[in-house]
Amino acid sequence: MSETARALVDRARAAALRAYAPYSGFSVGCAVESSSGDIAVGANMENACYRLGVCAEISALTAAAQAFGLGQIVRIAVSGGHLREDGRLTGHMLVTPCGGCRQAILEAAHVAGRDIEVVSANGDGSELRLMRISELIPFGFGPANLSDADRVDAGG
Ligand code: THU
Repeated sequence: MSETARALVDRARAAALRAYAPYSGFSVGCAVESSSGDIAVGANMENACYRLGVCAEISALTAAAQAFGLGQIVRIAVSGGHLREDGRLTGHMLVTPCGGCRQAILEAAHVAGRDIEVVSANGDGSELRLMRISELIPFGFGPANLSDADRVDAGG
């Protein structure tokens, strides 16, 4: 396990402490790393209209776009679980990005021109798994599909 992956997970777990998740009780944090080592973080933010809540990954990707640009993204870490009253994040299962967030990471991978690494961790941080976005969303529908259709339109 690379030190950077572990450090990035620590940042994601710290971000989860600032999640706003009163409805699900499931706090998620995400940390996005740039090619020069800058880090942007985000957490999930729910609201009373349940389905309109924002995931941690979207929150962090948006922060990353502002901080250094989607094109610089090399790695993303995600962790989540139950935030105990003593401030500790718990949970045994690895948290992988939901389907919608995988699509957003795929878009960032297109902008960055690289297969972004995704580090999934469980809430207590005891387990990590490194994957690539291409493994998490195989046969993904992306910008290349749209430009391919444009070419066909143009008779190419
Ligand atoms: N959640 C995330 O923030 N990221 C994911 O990839 C999975 C789910 C949030 C959404 C909701 O606020 C809570 O976790 C429970 O689904």
